[in-house]
Amino acid sequence: MTYGVILAGGIGSRMGGDKPKQYLTIKDKPIIIYTIEKFFTVPDFEKIIVLCPKQWVEHTKNLIEKYIAPAQAKIAVIEGGETRNETIMNAIKFIEDEGNLDENTIIVTHDSVRPFVTHRIIHENIAACEKYGACDTVIPATDTIVESQDNKTINSIPDRSKMYQGQTPQSFKALRLKEVYNSLTEEEKTVLTDAAKILILKGDSVALVDGETFNIKLTHPHDLRVARTLLEDNNE
Ligand code: CTP
Repeated sequence: MTYGVILAGGIGSRMGGDKPKQYLTIKDKPIIIYTIEKFFTVPDFEKIIVLCPKQWVEHTKNLIEKYIAPAQAKIAVIEGGETRNETIMNAIKFIEDEGNLDENTIIVTHDSVRPFVTHRIIHENIAACEKYGACDTVIPATDTIVESQDNKTINSIPDRSKMYQGQTPQSFKALRLKEVYNSLTEEEKTVLTDAAKILILKGDSVALVDGETFNIKLTHPHDLRVARTLLEDNNE
């Protein structure tokens, strides 16, 4: 069984403002609605689980009623966690409570603030996760990547042809991710903020899926201006 998991548990501190960035409106709709729509129209998903801060759960349900479809049984809105990984774990717990967590259960996890994801990317995530057990969406690095251990001087400049920038979705076999996450110490959990990295450190394969340069994450106020422009030619 395959679930879409929309991560909306953050507060958007870098964006600023009086509400989490996923609830800001661009043109006529909140950002989170554009993102949910992309997943909602993919038939492979048993359900779409939307995870948001506790005080935003009712509001999110109301937005789905208004913009997507009334009493929509295919979308579940639940509380996210303290960290992004804890939010993913809440989604897995929901699947487990539904009685659907087994070694073939796939979760396609996606940032609520990446509304420009495409159906091609989602489908390729599902296929790659079925084949390899986990995958990450990436684009080739365009700028040279510079590594600095002390944040003052350069340690290395890796070969750019082997460097990528991570996007989302990231897709996992849910049971495996849960087992590996639960085996981490509290300290490791604090450091390992990327779910794919957890698996890589345990020696699991994580396949690459081609992203898109326009699959941007809305992080800073400037990104909203870019998003408005992109929405004008985003007809998917
Ligand atoms: N996220 C989540 N649960 C958390 C923290 C983050 O589901 N506890 C989600 C965010 O809502 C967002 C995605 O993870 O859709 C990417 O995270 P980021 O851009 O860092 O979002 P915020 O944590 O909201 O932003 P900031 O770091 O600026 O506070």
